[in-house]
Amino acid sequence: MTQPLTGSLKWWQSGIIYQIYPRSFQDTDGDGIGDLRGITRRLPYIASLGVQAVWLSPIFKSPMRDFGYDVADYCDIDPLFGTLADFDALVQEAHRLGLKVMLDYVPNHSSSDHAWFQEALKSRDNPRRDWYVWRDPAPDGGVPNNWKSFFGGPAWTLDQASGQYYLHQFLPTQPDLNWRNPEVRQAMFDVLRFWMARGVDGFRVDVIWLLAEDERFLDEPLNEDANREVIGGQVEHSTLIHIYTQDQPETHEYIREMRQVIDEFDDRMMVGEIYLPLDKLLPYSGTPDAPMVHLPFNFHLILLAWNAAQIRQFADEYDAASNQAGAWPNWVLGNHDQHRFKTRVGAAQYRVAQTLLLTLRGTPTVYYGDEIGMQNVPIPFGRMVDPAGLQQPDSPAAGRDPERTPMQWDATPNAGFTGAGVETWLPLADDFASVNVEAQQNDPHSDLNYFRALTKLRETHPALIGGTYESLDSGHDDVFLFRRTLGPDTLLVALNFGAETHPLTLLPGQTMLPGQTLLSSLNDQPPADAPLRANEARIVLNS
Ligand code: NOJ
Ligand code: MG
Repeated sequence: MTQPLTGSLKWWQSGIIYQIYPRSFQDTDGDGIGDLRGITRRLPYIASLGVQAVWLSPIFKSPMRDFGYDVADYCDIDPLFGTLADFDALVQEAHRLGLKVMLDYVPNHSSSDHAWFQEALKSRDNPRRDWYVWRDPAPDGGVPNNWKSFFGGPAWTLDQASGQYYLHQFLPTQPDLNWRNPEVRQAMFDVLRFWMARGVDGFRVDVIWLLAEDERFLDEPLNEDANREVIGGQVEHSTLIHIYTQDQPETHEYIREMRQVIDEFDDRMMVGEIYLPLDKLLPYSGTPDAPMVHLPFNFHLILLAWNAAQIRQFADEYDAASNQAGAWPNWVLGNHDQHRFKTRVGAAQYRVAQTLLLTLRGTPTVYYGDEIGMQNVPIPFGRMVDPAGLQQPDSPAAGRDPERTPMQWDATPNAGFTGAGVETWLPLADDFASVNVEAQQNDPHSDLNYFRALTKLRETHPALIGGTYESLDSGHDDVFLFRRTLGPDTLLVALNFGAETHPLTLLPGQTMLPGQTLLSSLNDQPPADAPLRANEARIVLNS
């Protein structure tokens, strides 16, 4: 299979995306909530990580009932975060530092505060009425069908005044836009043009696989294996199989149109939020003639158990299927909807996971703070703010607050996130006095500098970016070995998922090439073929 050389790769293929949750990055005006000026101030730090792009979770005007994923004006900045001028300054500074800027585009639903929805509420024949999804009550006067909201309860709310229900896949204050209406599509495409004209390089597209619903509005079948939903952790939503509210053919159609708008501008991109199994995920890349998203987010490192054999199997299948589809792969370990990966895999495995993320073939997306090893922060009930968590007080694991806490910059009160004495919107981690950027900056063995060592290796060894991927049989269930090869350059990545030492050997028929250790997660430089120690990640250059 031919691989493009790194020289011909686009920035979103060769680079790393760094996700910022703006409320928690850096506060400059002393309200305990991060802002755009804070992000701009910290851009040199981000550039120092060796990443290529920043993606900002939503910064648009919003009543913040879902912390910005409820947009009241798609073309303005919420005053909490600053102004359009602050945003322009951010883009300018990012570009000066060689960083791309990506925004979070939320097309599936607006806030109920949006002028469009306020108009739609006025009457059944208001020109904006059809911009949302309305249904008459069922014959018994109840909800039109059994569809559920991700955050619990029905996906329908009654508008008393008109006697009709409107659809919302999330909160009742997040009404779904009606993507079947061409005027809606045009209005939402103009939003993309507005930001691209301002210099925005790309978009992360919120719940892109939910845009359309089946027109027949039939009940969804019951799911025997109800578990926890991937966004917000609700069990209730997963009691249905979402065959009518997710992954519809029309959605593919709308994404193709969306892509044409992105392609009106040079070198822009979009990455789609899509929680689907591999066979349904890859089609979102589209085809050369009818491209869709540049990257369909691959969340499987989050969804799979932390198990070398299972992850190897997935990586093999995904790599092969991506090649076959002509799609560029990508990998994610954490985001603002998922618990911190260091907590999930355990501190001992943290660097194994980080190494995996940054050396597999495909674009990595990194969640702020993961580079210094931030963990879930337990949130006392009285401080919980995530609506998904508040709806299920009995299930403390469900909320998303623990992974959204303020960035830990230094050991001063409030960790340098905001001034001393300010109440931060979510509590800071207890460990910020030791786990922070300043403390790790000058420690060559810190998590932060391990992250930088990995990004530096990607720069000096382009095989880690554009090289082929091939996994090898290690002979041990806990050891995942793979090779990245580009021209004469071959790197071996050896990951020990277990707590025992294993000789670094290969099964008969596969050859271990002589090599030189470039990096070990255990802060030393063992011989390339030395046994792989407990929890060790090692990168070897074969010659
Ligand atoms: C997905 C986002 O990642 C999540 O944070 C949000 O609550 C939902 N979409 C609704 O917009
Ligand atoms: Mg929808």
